[in-house]
Parts: sequence; structure tokens; C-alpha cells
Amino acid sequence: MSAIEPPLAMLAEITHRCPLQCPYCSNPLALERAQGELDTEAWADIFRQAAALGILQVHLSGGEPMARADLPELVATASAAGLYVNLITSAVLCTEEKLAALKDAGLRHVQISLQGSEAANADTIAGYRDAHAKKLAAAGMLRRLDLPLTINAVMHRQNLDQLEALIELSVELGARRLEVAHVQYYGWALKNRAALIPTRAQLDAATATVEAARQRLKGSLVIDYVIPDYYGRRPKACMNGWGRRFLNVTPSGTVLPCHAAETIPGLVFERATEKPLKEIWTSSAAFEHFRGTAWMPEPCASCDQREIDWGGCRCQALALTGDAANTDPVCELSPHHARIAALANEEAAAGGDDFVYRNYRHADG
Ligand code: SF4
Ligand code: FES
Repeated sequence: MSAIEPPLAMLAEITHRCPLQCPYCSNPLALERAQGELDTEAWADIFRQAAALGILQVHLSGGEPMARADLPELVATASAAGLYVNLITSAVLCTEEKLAALKDAGLRHVQISLQGSEAANADTIAGYRDAHAKKLAAAGMLRRLDLPLTINAVMHRQNLDQLEALIELSVELGARRLEVAHVQYYGWALKNRAALIPTRAQLDAATATVEAARQRLKGSLVIDYVIPDYYGRRPKACMNGWGRRFLNVTPSGTVLPCHAAETIPGLVFERATEKPLKEIWTSSAAFEHFRGTAWMPEPCASCDQREIDWGGCRCQALALTGDAANTDPVCELSPHHARIAALANEEAAAGGDDFVYRNYRHADG
């Protein structure tokens, strides 16, 4: 195999604590408690190691990263290490003073999630009163501070009728980029799939809405669009391939190739506090396990797409077929594919709308 290239970006999940309870959260079902979180200096060391390894960007995420009182120090150390610092936030804990301090510390970009276009429905999905109003206020603060804003709109069966309004709202809020991201079914989202997955007709209508908006808003708003895997014919190159471009660090310092990797049995993930990050990236057994193409079964092993989609998503293959080493069943060449599309249609048609909210009370462990 050719030399292992350095990763481009790191998702630093600095805490699992979060005031919101979104039922589609990608966090694991077993949430880390505050006492298990790395301290400021441990994170600072990881940021320095990341920059030395060649990582260019760090996405500070959670949970809600603003739940950490030392966030300005974390931003400052990441920025001083030479990393481009992006904050992924629900925005409900933002004040203008806190955001100004983060900007002074070196924050370069903010991504705010919206649960819908109008308060009542958005607050119900977030499981947090006044969340929507707080998010709109935070977007205004960012405009005044001249910090670039991306809106992340997570779409599912219970808010897809608001997509057009969400696009208009993003323009009003001064966002430069909008991610229209259909829920991907890992972590809490997998648990709540039956309440969230759209019908095929809803998905087609959403795709047409995004296409029209892209034309209309060319030059003023960039719209990224992620469809729900279950209705696809070819899988996405999850994480751009296992151990190729990205790594995640959990609140307690475990280094993962993706946010759901710990669901895969038999893999042992190491901690950045116990082993150099470079060594974990280049030679740990877990990163090596699905890196490249040598692990692939047929039909991937002889497929001309194998270095384009890297066989799709290992965690999805596990969740839907019981074996992470199978071809992602989103691929129409997988023997499991027909069952996946049928499952999506059945669950969407059943129309259940009860959530299991993401919080410590419902968490495993
Ligand atoms: Fe990708 Fe494997 Fe499907 Fe080929 S067979 S398109 S490599 S998932
Ligand atoms: Fe783990 Fe896709 S989420 S490989």
C-alpha cells in the first residue's frame, strides 16, 4: 500500500453534554458524562499533535461545545497550533460577549443547526423551549461580529414541509452556506428511524426544491445537499474512506475513524492521551482494519468504484446487515440492497411519530 497521507480535518467532540435532545443526534447511545471529559491541557496537546500531523481544520463539536466553560482557551490553543477553527453549535448558549471572546481567541467560522423554520415545531424536535428564537438571535450576533455562518438544516419526515421556508430563512440570516442534510441513521437517529425517515415522494419533492433554490440563489447562497442513504443506488464515500482524510476524537480522548465506529465489535480504539496521534493514525489496528481496499469482499473487490466510494459506510453495513465488512447495502450491487429500500418505504408509510429524545435519562450505560 502507498504511504498513508495525513488527515485533513479532525472532529473534536469536546463534550456530550447538550441542552438540546434532538432525536436524530449522531452521538452514541452511551453518552460520556462530564467527569469523563478530557481537560483543557489534554485537548491543547491533541490540537498541537493534530497540527504537527498535518491536519488543517478542527471542528469543535459535541454535544454542545459551548457547555464547556474553557471553550475560549480550547479555541485559542487550537488556533495557536495553526488550525482553522470551526464551531458546530446549537447556539442556544450563545451571547454576544461569549462569541466575541471566541472570535478574539481565533474562531474563524460557525455552523448553527436549525430544527425547522418556525418555532413551535423546531422547539418540539429540539426538546428545548425557545431554542429557535435563541438560534435566530445568535445568527444576528454573528452578523454583527462578521463571523461567517453556515446553517445546518437536518431534514426528516416531520419537517420536510418547511424546506422552502428554511432556505429563505438562511438567506435572511446572512448564511453563506446551507447544508440541507437528510438524517443519516446512526446513533440516536437509528433508534428513531421509524419516526424520521421520509417517503420517496417527500424526498423527490425536497430534491426538486433544492435544485430550484440552487439556481435562484446562485452567487449568494451555496447549498449542499445530502440525501438519506436508504433511497440511494450507490453509497457515499463515508468519511472519504476509512482512515483516509478524517478522524474523530471523543470527549474522553478516544480516536475514531468516524463518529459511529465504536459500534463495530472487535475493533480496539486507542486514546490520544496514551499514544501519539500520529502513531494511532498511521498504524493502529483499528484504522488499518478497513483502510484502502484489501479488506473488501465481492462485489466491491473487483468494482471500478472501489477507490471512489471505498465501499460505502462500515457502520451502516453493520447496522443493516450485521457485518461491518459487508458491502454497504445502499449499493444496488449488494445482495442486501432490495431489503433496505423496502424497509425505508415500510417505515415511512407506517407514519409513527414518537421520538426517544437524546438525553442522559435515555442513554445506555
Ligand atoms: Fe462501491 Fe462496492 Fe458498490 Fe462498487 S460494489 S459501487 S465499490 S459499494
Ligand atoms: Fe462509520 Fe460511515 S459512519 S464508516
